[in-house]
Amino acid sequence: MRILETKNYQEMSQLAAEYIIEKIRHSAQINLGLATGSTPLGTYSEMIKDFEKDETSYQHVRTFNLDEYVGLDNKHPNSYNYFMRENLFNHINITEEQTHIPNGMAANIEKVCQGYEELLEKQGGIDLQLLGIGKNGHIGFNEPGTSFESITHKVKLAQSTRLANARFFTSMDKVPTHAITMGISTILRSKEILLLVSGEEKSEAVKQLFYGPINENFPASVLNTHQNVTIIGDKKAFAGII
Ligand code: GLP
Repeated sequence: MRILETKNYQEMSQLAAEYIIEKIRHSAQINLGLATGSTPLGTYSEMIKDFEKDETSYQHVRTFNLDEYVGLDNKHPNSYNYFMRENLFNHINITEEQTHIPNGMAANIEKVCQGYEELLEKQGGIDLQLLGIGKNGHIGFNEPGTSFESITHKVKLAQSTRLANARFFTSMDKVPTHAITMGISTILRSKEILLLVSGEEKSEAVKQLFYGPINENFPASVLNTHQNVTIIGDKKAFAGII
């Protein structure tokens, strides 16, 4: 694992955006795995600024999001589909056909999951996967206890995850109970992984990631088994750790 520490969230976002942009500029075609949540927001906004200023083209980029809530349609402001359009896709030169997010509104969720795996396989897999981390070590929506062998699947969200995400909803009962997520093994198939961590509320998770055992009780621990992981984090997330 490569670890890059930055002064603050802003610097983390700039560095992460530069990292991603560099890859885009140097590849004829690239498959990006994208994440949602508060952590990558700054990165996306830096990518948009760069697009406006330096005109990095997304013409040859395909994107695959990690996860989506079950039961929220595209127009729902808390769906990850909406989030991605609002915070990135609508502001860069990328068409809808180039972007992929599991459909949490489908009648047959099993089929969506299977189709997502097939799609990833057919498109040559993910070159660079951007990740955040939950306080309980979840990556995507893979909660503690998820098998390291898991592929894209439907999950029941942990109560702690629903609580953590409740800030985006008007009330707790509006927070979806289920989601679709790439599995741990789907994530690990990415050629490269870029994990972002910010703020003191993530420092326990970072500590666990660095020094804890590698097992399914802490999903992110599996990243220690991947050949090409870079972590960009701010001082607060690394406080007392490195
Ligand atoms: C959410 C998402 C994850 C994200 C994580 C952390 O539930 N499904 O993909 O990485 O929780 O979110 P945040 O960046 O807001 O702390």
